[in-house]
Amino acid sequence: MADKLIIFDTTLRDGEQSPGASMTRDEKLRIARQLERLRVDVIEAGFAASSNGDFEAVKAIANAIKDSTICSLSRANDRDISRAAEALKGANNGRIHTFIATSELHMEKKLRMTPDQVFEQAKLSVRFARNLVADVEFSPEDGYRSDMDFLCKILEAVIAEGATTINVPDTVGYAVPELYGQFIKTLRERIPNSDKAVWSVHCHNDLGMAVANSLAGVKLGGARQVECTINGLGERAGNCSLEEIVMAVKTRKDYFGLEMNIDPIHIVAASRMVSQTTGFVVQPNKAVVGANAFAHASGIHQDGVLKARDTYEIMRAEDVGWSANKIVLGKLSGRNAFKQRLQELGVLLESETELNAAFTRFKELADRKSEIFDEDILALVSEESVTQDKEQYAFVSLAQHSETGERPSAAIVFTVSGKEVHGKSEGNGPVDASLKAIESIVESGAEMVLYSVNAISGSTESQGEVTVRLQNSGRVVNGVGSDPDIIVASAKAYLSALNKLQSKADRVAAQG
Ligand code: KIV
Ligand code: ZN
Repeated sequence: MADKLIIFDTTLRDGEQSPGASMTRDEKLRIARQLERLRVDVIEAGFAASSNGDFEAVKAIANAIKDSTICSLSRANDRDISRAAEALKGANNGRIHTFIATSELHMEKKLRMTPDQVFEQAKLSVRFARNLVADVEFSPEDGYRSDMDFLCKILEAVIAEGATTINVPDTVGYAVPELYGQFIKTLRERIPNSDKAVWSVHCHNDLGMAVANSLAGVKLGGARQVECTINGLGERAGNCSLEEIVMAVKTRKDYFGLEMNIDPIHIVAASRMVSQTTGFVVQPNKAVVGANAFAHASGIHQDGVLKARDTYEIMRAEDVGWSANKIVLGKLSGRNAFKQRLQELGVLLESETELNAAFTRFKELADRKSEIFDEDILALVSEESVTQDKEQYAFVSLAQHSETGERPSAAIVFTVSGKEVHGKSEGNGPVDASLKAIESIVESGAEMVLYSVNAISGSTESQGEVTVRLQNSGRVVNGVGSDPDIIVASAKAYLSALNKLQSKADRVAAQG
């Protein structure tokens, strides 16, 4: 049988832990569908016990996704594990991923537990989880900085209790490739029952080595599962990025000799979806999914690629889903053409109502913008999913005035729980005036910690995509809005961020 590498995606759990990256249930469901299309083996859908919102998201994904295994994280205690099992009930294949910290630092300072207590709790938790589901993963948090003897003892015990996957996190991104690979190898060699579990790597990118460390864990250590996220999304410097791992293993099959289930043609669409949903823009020079990843600017390179593609290209852009930014539709395009293009882009709208609403918005956009690119369509449908969520705040219209030497002003109309409200304000610039006009009604008191504008498809005729990051009472959220008018895009992004702040507040309230 072919030697297989399992791809475990944790965009919806570890990725979402990144400040500002929180997603609604429907956004998570949409991304989960894209991950299923990508043929990811395991989707970590959330941390069911952490909030009612997360519980509902895991449950919805477990009910909807049938090809991938659906996993929920849980701390090593009965309550968390029961909650995870409850959320996973509808899954074809459900996995509980339970963890407890094992490094001296974490046990003593964070958990305030002795190693013996941690050992007992890990064993009992895996035993409890195995009584609820057949597929149980165990992670010693901060595993890479843990004492080797203690780690061997605890991992041997949890495998004996029935853990089917053992994941070794480099929680703080401290590892270097050779040492991490050797670490996994030593564990597998020293633990007598190590062959009873699949070994997994989980690396953070604090020193920019998450992908290299994960590959070393696979090649030198013999791990056969990699935990990763789309675009490397994750806390601090992020997690190991899925697109880089997948394309490294695929492009260098001569070296790794491993098979994967992944269908890379859906990588770029997944990357855009995650970026547009979370507001985390992909850097242009990011491997595989960055806008420049396949662009050749120097004359020598262009000449070489025209003569023989493989002079400067080791992968084909179209294999990962880049279609050459072509004009796809215009105002004469019909509903069927629109629907077909959505299918080609891997976007599945849940119902005819959703398709009709998206098509109406497409027509409105086509009236204002003669050339509609793939990026426009993707922005339009991700915004459509936000409006479908029946959010508290929704944009209606905006008028603003700015002239050299005069203080800009704006008048905005939006709905609050379906009821129209009108706000007015002046500001330092038209964007500032528009956002202040919203605040004159909402009075959220939120602090703006980031504002960024991007042209979705290059030219000034392009739609602007705005990301707004707000912070309030310790919560950080990103809102994204797009429109050919960047002031309108800014107002939409601001309202979207307010909606997310609201939904986070609801989640916290529901938990309490
Ligand atoms: O980084 C980490 O240690 C984790 C564990 C919970 C697996 O994300
Ligand atoms: Zn992690």
